[in-house]
Amino acid sequence: MNIALNVTQPVPLSSGEAFRHKAVVREIKGLNWENLDGDDLQVVMYLSYIAAVEFAEALRLALDLYPSHEGLLEMAHGELKTKNLLLDDYRDAGDHHEFLAHFLEKHDLTEPMRQRLGRHADAYLAACRSLDENVRAMTVFSREEELSGIFARMLDAEDWSYPGLYAFRHYLSRHITFDSGEGGHHDLVSSFPIDDRVYPFYAARLETFRLVPHLFELTPAAKAGCDTPSERPLM
Ligand SMILES: [Fe+2]
Repeated sequence: MNIALNVTQPVPLSSGEAFRHKAVVREIKGLNWENLDGDDLQVVMYLSYIAAVEFAEALRLALDLYPSHEGLLEMAHGELKTKNLLLDDYRDAGDHHEFLAHFLEKHDLTEPMRQRLGRHADAYLAACRSLDENVRAMTVFSREEELSGIFARMLDAEDWSYPGLYAFRHYLSRHITFDSGEGGHHDLVSSFPIDDRVYPFYAARLETFRLVPHLFELTPAAKAGCDTPSERPLM
């Protein structure tokens, strides 16, 4: 897998879509999340952990850039060194990636996943970290708008019985509440403008999902002839 920042075959816009990154978000939501098995979901949990590591970095950059934005400060309280994800023996204040790290480690998933996916995870992190700090901050504000819809699609998977997945489901469902409720994270940072400079971030995110081939098998809706997720590589 080549996690690309220079995308030569952009996901096509549909009518009414002003930004290319919106087309990638639509494509991610249109993947076949219902098709995932327990092993796939453990992979998605690990990828979400990696994404959350980078999110915390980008959020700290945003705080450096906009230290007096009250909405951003309040949003950050719900993301960094927080107790809003407490579950079972996870009782300490932490960044949200630390919650996922705790349950990956508890269920002996960290090392097998690192061996299986570490190279791809490193490529994703390098792609994100190569973006300008203003753009990385913008991806944070954009994620507060977009991730709740993507997380809701992940929850459409059916088999949450594998070790650690109960914690991942908790992480996803709590985030939807944090981000999308009235006065939630999205509302708190909605004054920051977002444009297509965030496109490479979403392109890199979509590339990580290519590690889960079941996502790219046709959905029932696609088989019926509509809303087909693209299977072509982005580069
Ligand atoms: Fe959030």
